[in-house]
Amino acid sequence: MKLKQLETLLGDLDQFSNPKVELEQYPTGPHIASRMLYTAENSYGDVSDKVVADFGCGCGTLAAAAALVGAEQVIGIDIDSESLELAAQNADELELEIDFVQCDVRNLAWRGRTVDTVVMNPPFGTRRKGADMEFLFAALKIATQAVYSLHKTSTRDHVKRAALRDFGACSAEVICELRYDIPQLYKFHKKKEVDIAVDLWRFVPRIDRDNGS
Ligand SMILES: C[S@@+](CC[C@H](N)C(=O)[O-])C[C@H]1O[C@@H](n2cnc3c(N)ncnc32)[C@H](O)[C@@H]1O
Repeated sequence: MKLKQLETLLGDLDQFSNPKVELEQYPTGPHIASRMLYTAENSYGDVSDKVVADFGCGCGTLAAAAALVGAEQVIGIDIDSESLELAAQNADELELEIDFVQCDVRNLAWRGRTVDTVVMNPPFGTRRKGADMEFLFAALKIATQAVYSLHKTSTRDHVKRAALRDFGACSAEVICELRYDIPQLYKFHKKKEVDIAVDLWRFVPRIDRDNGS
């Protein structure tokens, strides 16, 4: 699928109508989501014929992108049941088969299931400090091939150190820096749109370990 076509399809998906601030529910826009999955597939071969999990799937945009790019199986995980309902509706709209699971990513313990690639736009950790790192820790425990994740550029050194030193990644690479537009979803946002710099990361988990799969 062409990049433009992917972006257009993702642009039709519904987004959070009543976002929960404590869960940092802001959508991954079609521009970023399409580039994330397009790059994962076309530059690294991490999507087609793979089992892909979207951690904190929210409206399901990254999960839908993975399915459109040819993943063999896609699993969307979120702690919030309303988000999962919306994500399931979005998947139906595009006639995509995606499995949705309600779970706190901190409690994931998947024995017997292999996830090749995790894609995620985790909470940035602005409401609950460390939430971004908890997602990364969980993703690197579960993925066997790669983890794609968005993190604030201001946290670049910290993310790299934690991934390589504490979470057992064997590589941590910033693929590109992107502008992330957060629409005015919450009352405390004074401007119409909050624009921040984010890094798109690709992490490779260490595979010589028992990751519980
Ligand atoms: C920045 S949003 C990601 C949005 C999503 N990628 C999309 O396009 O809609 C973060 C998501 O993580 C979910 N979340 C927050 N804490 C979580 C946790 N501990 N376990 C699972 N999901 C969580 C939120 O409900 C929210 O949907």
